[in-house]
Amino acid sequence: MLILGLGGSKNYVNQKQSPSMSKIIAFAGKGGVGKTTVASLVIRHLSKTGRTPILAVDADPNSNLGETMGIEVETTVGDIRENFMRDPQGVPSGMDKTIYLETLVEQALIEKPAFDLLVMGRQEGQGCYCMVNNILNNFTDRLMVNYSYMVVDNEAGMEHLSRRTSGRVDMLYLVSDYSLRGLRALRRINEMLESLKLTVEELGIIVTRAPAELSDTFLREVDEIGLPILGLIPDDPALLDFDMEKRSLLELPDDSLSVEAVGRMLNETCPA
Ligand SMILES: Nc1ncnc2c1ncn2[C@@H]1O[C@H](COP(=O)(O)OP(=O)(O)O)[C@@H](O)[C@H]1O
Ligand SMILES: [Mg+2]
Repeated sequence: MLILGLGGSKNYVNQKQSPSMSKIIAFAGKGGVGKTTVASLVIRHLSKTGRTPILAVDADPNSNLGETMGIEVETTVGDIRENFMRDPQGVPSGMDKTIYLETLVEQALIEKPAFDLLVMGRQEGQGCYCMVNNILNNFTDRLMVNYSYMVVDNEAGMEHLSRRTSGRVDMLYLVSDYSLRGLRALRRINEMLESLKLTVEELGIIVTRAPAELSDTFLREVDEIGLPILGLIPDDPALLDFDMEKRSLLELPDDSLSVEAVGRMLNETCPA
């Protein structure tokens, strides 16, 4: 458990250093296609196979990565930013504002046995947020070195990822359901990647709710995008049950269709 007094942030950032550089896995795609589900199952697999420590980052303002893993989120980085902008004089007297903001982010970091979770929350409103954003982005960058894996559930525009100072992603999974509309969204994201300040080492497509055989029309559209299909996740009725029962996806049985499919995909495309 991390309990630090104000001003202790610098220590934490250098605490749990992992020996090698952390691997960043990110997800992007249209809303509702299954990004958060797959991200949760990737976190589950990494954790179960001992590929820890893991930092889960919920970077979709409309997202619920915490919820799918049974975690109640109280504070987001967006809340911290908004509160600070509303009352910049609220920094305790004698304290540097950078340290103050970093301490708040540290407190917003949710620590669980299997992984830690940071929720970015809403995007900024009107006004100049550059200074605050720089502080927050720098801090998340430094925080990252404490983990072997960082798993980022993004919104379609990938704002958070592209704004980070060290814009690197080791594996970008573009998620589509089994629909041409889902694929077209991926095509746009893929085209947009060029204009982002982001180095993507590897990328490919995950198809969710995939049938046993993909149609020629679908495969032709994939060909036109020019990216490989890295994973096929079948329609898994257990996901609906868990959603209805508000159960964490971390508790899905090991032999669930989606759990097995994500395990296979990671072993093949992102080996330890
Ligand atoms: N492979 C799948 N089989 C069945 N239902 C799925 C599958 N993937 C996602 N879902 C369901 O679809 C809905 C949207 O998934 P979600 O992961 O929240 O999408 P996104 O994060 O892309 O908006 C959820 O109710 C989820 O349970
Ligand atoms: Mg989502």
